[in-house]
Amino acid sequence: MFAVSKLIIEGGHKLEGEISVHGAKNSALPVLAATMLCQGQSVIHNCPGLSDVEASVRILRHLGCKIQRDGSTLAVDSRNIVTCDIPDELMREMRSSIVFLGAIVSRMGCARLSFPGGCELGPRPIDLHLKALRQMGLLIDEQHGYLDCKVKSHLKGAHIALSFPSVGATENIMLAAVLAKGTTVITNAAREPEIIDLANYLNACGGKITGAGGGVVTIDGVAQLHGTEHTVIPDRIAATTFLTAAAITGSKLGLKDIDVGHLSQVIPMFEEAGCIVRWEGARMEIASPRKLHPIKIVRTMPYPGFPTDAQAPVMAMATLASGTSVFVENIFESRYKHAGELLRMGANIKVEGKVAVVEGVQNLYGAQVEAPDLRGGAALVVAGLAAEGATQLTGLHHIDRGYESMEHSLTSIGAKVRRI
Ligand code: EPZ
Repeated sequence: MFAVSKLIIEGGHKLEGEISVHGAKNSALPVLAATMLCQGQSVIHNCPGLSDVEASVRILRHLGCKIQRDGSTLAVDSRNIVTCDIPDELMREMRSSIVFLGAIVSRMGCARLSFPGGCELGPRPIDLHLKALRQMGLLIDEQHGYLDCKVKSHLKGAHIALSFPSVGATENIMLAAVLAKGTTVITNAAREPEIIDLANYLNACGGKITGAGGGVVTIDGVAQLHGTEHTVIPDRIAATTFLTAAAITGSKLGLKDIDVGHLSQVIPMFEEAGCIVRWEGARMEIASPRKLHPIKIVRTMPYPGFPTDAQAPVMAMATLASGTSVFVENIFESRYKHAGELLRMGANIKVEGKVAVVEGVQNLYGAQVEAPDLRGGAALVVAGLAAEGATQLTGLHHIDRGYESMEHSLTSIGAKVRRI
């Protein structure tokens, strides 16, 4: 077991310069799962160095893929898949490993894997995934936390109306449908940029997917997929997190390698807070006021609404605004665990169900805090940058799932953060 590592964040330092944003975790994971559908080798560029990506690599290797990593490029040779069974310890490493279900049954006609553990955001049901896959002919036996799946002969296209535009369910259906017999139509599909990135990868492999990014996605099954070369889109949530770090410290900061089209909901929110945001191509610059204005209301919604993953870092920023900001978390049922930790730092937050009311305070104070989940951990780092004194943050395994060496990234733009 590793010693408990923690970040020591010394508050009060302005950020400066420019930072490059890593590839999107929530695109790399489904794209890596999709590589096992190909009879050949795929080369995936801009893969972020995250523990969730490492977990995906371990699962792919267990299934029989040969994988080489060269920096942020992963070469995946999936010609020879040897099993359709993911052992429990591998499934438990990553919440989103359920996205492998669609890929494995698509390639092998069978799958055996454990239910993904609940996670910090509340129970993570997969009912929409299972209902859709059953409609495509998958026989699923749910016993003692295990899913034992097989198809009679092959998966077949179906009309699937999602009751909620679930990102993971949409991805699982695409992965199951791309090699199925016939056409699958998903209505009320998730519209996140990561869905478009997955469709682009699968189409480059010979898939026939149209409508990704809209509410209706159509997949015409094909007989086989070949490998391809693909570059993962930038991480819009990491980009937003660095913007909140600049905003809370009253800094001017440059971001590069971003896709500003994915930030259309968060840019107006930074402008309401009194920041000036400018962009040109894949670069963006934010200039922040000495004192942030409050944000009247932030409602998290499925894309293109305000992203739930940005709620925590934006709440951290709002704790020092000159007034009251209101948050409504509509996607996950318990995604305010960071509020309790922010209170320890002197924030004034009241949580009532899915609503959180943040009264701006004059100062935050460094404290010993623990990351409750990935984005909650990021929120505590953001708060620590502006707090008086030093903040000690544990629970770094959460942060390492979604941010490439947070301490190096922030130190490179003037923050005083070290991991011990
Ligand atoms: C993806 O999770 C992301 N993860 C999440 O990012 C993100 O917060 C979420 O989409 C929403 O944008 C990855 O892409 C790996 P959902 P996912 O299925 O697919 C309920 C991060 O911080 N639901 O759209 O699990 C579910 O409980 C992570 O990077 C069902 O009820 O999200 C939740 O309340 C956190 N039944 C809501 O829908 C189902 O079968 C949204 O879930 C599936 C989901």
